[in-house]
Amino acid sequence: MLNIFKHKNQPLYGADYNPDQWLDRPDILTRDIELMKEAGCTTMTLGVFAWTSYESEDGVYHFEWLDDAMDRLHQAGIGVFLATPTAAKPLWLSEANPEIRRVDRQGVREPSGERHNHCPSSQLFRQKSQAINRELAKRYAGHPALMLWHVNNEISGECFCESCLTEFRVWLQRKYGSLDALNAAWWAAFWNHSVTEWEQITPFDQSVDGMVLDWRRFVNDLHVSTLENEMVPLRELTPEIPCTTNFMSTFDTNNYYQWSKVLDLVSNDRYPLHDDRENSWQVSMRTEFVNALMRGMAKGQSWIQMECSPSSVNWWQVNKLKRPGVHFSEAMQYLAHGADAVHYFQWRKGRGGCEKFHGAVIDHDGSGQTRVFAECCEVGRALESCADISGVPREKSPVAIVYDWESKWAIRASVGPKAPRLEYPKADDVHTQTAREHYNALARMGVNADITFKDQDWSDYRCLILPSLYLIDADTAAKVSSYVEAGGVVVGTYLTAYVDPNNRVWNGGLPGAGLRSVFGVWNEEIDYLFEEESNTAMFNQGSEQDQSIVTDFAELIHAESAHGIAVYNQDFYQNRPVCTKNAFGTGTAFYVGARLDGQGLIRFYRDVLMAAKLKVRAEALPAGVVIQDRKGAAGRVFRFVFNFTRTKQAVELEGEWRDLVNDAHRFGSVELAPYATMTLISESVN
Ligand code: GAL
Repeated sequence: MLNIFKHKNQPLYGADYNPDQWLDRPDILTRDIELMKEAGCTTMTLGVFAWTSYESEDGVYHFEWLDDAMDRLHQAGIGVFLATPTAAKPLWLSEANPEIRRVDRQGVREPSGERHNHCPSSQLFRQKSQAINRELAKRYAGHPALMLWHVNNEISGECFCESCLTEFRVWLQRKYGSLDALNAAWWAAFWNHSVTEWEQITPFDQSVDGMVLDWRRFVNDLHVSTLENEMVPLRELTPEIPCTTNFMSTFDTNNYYQWSKVLDLVSNDRYPLHDDRENSWQVSMRTEFVNALMRGMAKGQSWIQMECSPSSVNWWQVNKLKRPGVHFSEAMQYLAHGADAVHYFQWRKGRGGCEKFHGAVIDHDGSGQTRVFAECCEVGRALESCADISGVPREKSPVAIVYDWESKWAIRASVGPKAPRLEYPKADDVHTQTAREHYNALARMGVNADITFKDQDWSDYRCLILPSLYLIDADTAAKVSSYVEAGGVVVGTYLTAYVDPNNRVWNGGLPGAGLRSVFGVWNEEIDYLFEEESNTAMFNQGSEQDQSIVTDFAELIHAESAHGIAVYNQDFYQNRPVCTKNAFGTGTAFYVGARLDGQGLIRFYRDVLMAAKLKVRAEALPAGVVIQDRKGAAGRVFRFVFNFTRTKQAVELEGEWRDLVNDAHRFGSVELAPYATMTLISESVN
């Protein structure tokens, strides 16, 4: 366990804090520390955008406010996550050196200002970032409050300046070695796009979809090298202090799995829109999936929920307040999934700037009298009462879903695969949408799946799911094949194994890369349905419960060695298989060629989980109700029972439990009020 999680021996609790915005009000820091103690805070993040306050002109440093804040927080027993201030460039730096500002697709250089917008290939920006980080690390090495480096902030975006384009060409030369290899990889003979000089290459032509994919990889690599560059002085001068950067969930352009490999720990930001509409529970289910993704990237280590809002945000079109209980439930979701720290953006609302109405623990009234503050105190108490959890890795699930940014990128880059319909509250890419829907069905059956990745060891899993895993390389396909051969159960879905790592379709019939024989199916064609259209999948028994509505994607597959377990009921492909099962080696490969509804997926997974010899709940949980277990250090199990819906729900608990909030004995059927969360601890040690 990393040392930071031993601080106070409980899950950490805190927020982004900006004392630098209140330098003329020394009383504010004093009052804030009192309120932090009252709320049960253990840690604060300082200095996220504070560069100019440390370096007001080139090489002139002053750290007085930070010295004072670090010392006083430490005296109060509060640790510090210290941010490097590089997510917003100083005006003096960007005015004197325009090359650190980004250039857009039209070739226009951005003006100074805003944030999260340095040119990622600028050598000068890299030097200046290292210099300020070195000063911070020198000054605070050994400071007892320093617990973690929070590197930069929510890095993202791209730049089309000459330096970035040159770097792209160098990156391609390193990757392909020759133009012949590059042209072959990009299928460049199409539309006469063969490259004859490296200098001809630009990232603008979206018809070269192999190039579009490489540009994504290149930009992602630039961000990783930005992180690595920033961490050089931190690791040199404070080797015992871990480094992280805050992820943004499934953010499309950032391959966070790759990022997680260069960081010491994973942290995430999340701002779900809980707007109290009928399907708001789906938002919490997205958080469930994202948390499982973080857990997967953390590989069993503790991770940090670095930002969330204790109330509303200010940037959705309609910024609903979180209903009573919703915030508590969200905080417990992070904890249940292995986070050992819950931090907010932000501790205190500023008086100015475009985030002055963004939710915070302390409102403009400055008191501890608000509804939000009371709820934050409640979260603080709950985190204290779950002290036993801290640092104990969550146990692995027997089922894992493979998540893959490369497949997201390849589907987006390819013209053809349909975008998913606009889903509440916004559309995901197809890969993520499929992964989430399968995750949700399993959760309702009592199986909280892990998220894994192509290069991880799958041997502990009884069942592996490839959700629209569109891009697959030959090695991963061989790994899937060996996994099934050795007795594993695998699920493939529509849009799985279509293209190779260059975004070229696999020849020889889909699913490609040899998976046709593993699944025992040939996916000949795919039908895309209009929003108002649907088909029906009929499972063997054919009762009402054994049907599923099919929307969006309907593949016309042939069961070769496989046999059909469900067929389409309409259209010219009526009676053709939609779900299949194939014995391969000593394992089983299932294929689902269409987007089923929630009920249909549950029906499908009954067969899958039976083949994997896994126990499932006799009756599925209601949609929007989740049960998560996490073990504590003393061998007791903590159980979190969530009702994400706005109506009350009854849930059958297995075993005997004590309620951590009021000590009540809980067993059998329990009722949960709208948005209620039960935090329980097992009566027996095992
Ligand atoms: C995050 C960002 C924070 C704050 C927050 C508002 O994306 O890291 O600095 O702007 O959003 O929701």
